[in-house]
Amino acid sequence: MKISIIGTGYVGLVTGACLAEKGHEVTCVDINPERVAALNRAESPIFEAGLEELLRKHVGKGLSATTDLNAAVLGTDLTLIAVGTPFNGKEIDLTFVLGATKQIGAALKQKNAYHVVVVKSTVVPGTTDQHVLPALEASSGRKAGKDFGVGMNPEFLSEGEAVNDFLFPDRIVLGGIDARATDVLEEVYKPFGPEVPRLRTNTRTAEMIKYASNSLLATLISFSNELANLGSALGGIDTVEVMRGVHLSMYFRSRNKEGLPPITSFLKAGCGFGGSCLPKDVSALIAHGHKAATSMRMLESVIRINEEQPKRTVALLRKHWASLKGVRVAVLGLSFKPETSDVRESPAFPIMRELLDSGAVVKAYDPVAKHEAQKAFPDVKVNYCDTLDAALTEVDAVVVVTPWKEFKDVPARLASSQPKTVFVDGRRAYDKQAVANYEGIGL
Ligand code: UDX
Ligand code: UDX
Repeated sequence: MKISIIGTGYVGLVTGACLAEKGHEVTCVDINPERVAALNRAESPIFEAGLEELLRKHVGKGLSATTDLNAAVLGTDLTLIAVGTPFNGKEIDLTFVLGATKQIGAALKQKNAYHVVVVKSTVVPGTTDQHVLPALEASSGRKAGKDFGVGMNPEFLSEGEAVNDFLFPDRIVLGGIDARATDVLEEVYKPFGPEVPRLRTNTRTAEMIKYASNSLLATLISFSNELANLGSALGGIDTVEVMRGVHLSMYFRSRNKEGLPPITSFLKAGCGFGGSCLPKDVSALIAHGHKAATSMRMLESVIRINEEQPKRTVALLRKHWASLKGVRVAVLGLSFKPETSDVRESPAFPIMRELLDSGAVVKAYDPVAKHEAQKAFPDVKVNYCDTLDAALTEVDAVVVVTPWKEFKDVPARLASSQPKTVFVDGRRAYDKQAVANYEGIGL
């Protein structure tokens, strides 16, 4: 099928490259001309495993990029909207989605053949049928359901594994305003094979599935953090062992299989969840609930607990120093999780803020995200180091926020330091015996 995709951020671009890999003819559209030029040279503007290989394989064949949205829509049968949907502090910001929608509608005015417009961006329930559909009708002068179709097809991509997640999906959710639109969407995913579970539904339910999925993951993390904090307060309890005991329950494992099911990887206490999805999606859903006069007490607590975790992480240092004034601290791992350069909502920033406000002397290091971190947190008081060695030289304490592989031996290296460096494991990713002054969330 001929498909156009509006927005070449991490969702739009991964979608474009993967749909080309599945045999579709894809045109990627972006307002940023430099991004478009780079894509047409098969250069990926983002760090995502396997993406550049796909670009090299398909650019110039089944995949091209342009800034000309009008031509892209007219030359294709289906358009996916994959522009950003940030949380503006109050509610979801639909400016980009509705801006793109208006332009798509203007293009559809010139087109007689049936075309399907599908929202891929994460949008709160009701957006597609209450905002996108009317905006398309207004700018095209045509009728949804008759002249064009409208759908909603959420993404479930985990950063760092997005290409793999797209090519080997766990599920495909197809939301449509009617059977005709949903059938066209179904065609897009035909090459993925019949074994992938598909769920056909209306657009609002499709939108809600995405929020339900991410809110549940965020809830599991905050649940684990709340219990970890209680364990610390009571003393003599290690949250890692508690959770191991919980995971061993038959509800978390299949009786005949070795190993733990993936859901347990969201039941780990730490310095808090970050990234471009969980914090913003939970906040957007809470705001949307309030608009509908529905109390969102549980998800509000999920966010509140998450906001407290960075402070609790820094509080572990206060067990060793009554005042952090002048204490030299290295913060390791600035991206929101390993294997990505994405620093959006990384707990590293509130941790550094708390350290600086307490008078600590802060160094920071990340194997790939130094530049991004410096841009997001430009405080000149932070010494952004180029190497791990530089970060570990002359420090009193080390705080691991994101456990990159490169940090594996950090506890061993600190074990021989004199005087003993304090090691704060913000992710409970290290052996607590490996270093004398070990501190961890939920210990
Ligand atoms: C975004 C949302 O954050 C996520 O919730 C949603 O599920 C998918 O879209 P991401 O791909 O990370 O995720 O967005 P972003 O990195 O902001 O990229 C958006 C791209 O769209 C940018 O390249 C931007 O230049 C482009 N864009 C934006 C347009 O082409 N047209 C516009 O009108 C606005
Ligand atoms: C997430 C979902 O995993 C994905 O399925 C969805 O489609 C988009 O949102 P992503 O944001 O890439 O993906 O990262 P994820 O691996 O979920 O991690 C999010 C954050 O939670 C990270 O900061 C991570 O460190 C933290 N986390 C994760 C915990 O604090 N504890 C855990 O047990 C798991």
